[in-house]
Amino acid sequence: MTNPYCEKISELPQIPDQYLLTEDQIINLDRLSSDTWWAEGYGSFMANNELTDFIRPYFSKPIAVRYQLITKDRPFHIDTCAQTYKYNYVYKTGGANVKTIWRESTDLSTQLLDDDIVTTCNNRCWYKLNVKLSHSVMDIETARCSITVKEDLE
Ligand SMILES: [Fe+2]
Repeated sequence: MTNPYCEKISELPQIPDQYLLTEDQIINLDRLSSDTWWAEGYGSFMANNELTDFIRPYFSKPIAVRYQLITKDRPFHIDTCAQTYKYNYVYKTGGANVKTIWRESTDLSTQLLDDDIVTTCNNRCWYKLNVKLSHSVMDIETARCSITVKEDLE
């Protein structure tokens, strides 16, 4: 099923292997997300300037580039950032059965609803995500690593 809330974007480039950091390398970067979230298995980390410089030409506006590390299932949530959209490039999926689930609403109830859209993000593909709708990540087995781009509003 196509998913308008998690749209595959083919115009963005493949990220060179040198920037596909391991879990241990990501953990050594500056973490931006709170200790509470990190304890719950979600971390956002500063990307270095080289990677940001590589991605910047593909966007018309200033961007912020982050590594995202997810080590536990993420219950339904809405991202707290000001931006509506994020671009996400998953390069380590976190297991063969990981699903991302989207809701056409801001409902945060934990059980699956009939209209929920269950998807699998392909490895090393860019997706444009609407992070202001309720979404979750389920069935994580190992660390899930991605590079995330959002408009830099600062
Ligand atoms: Fe999210």
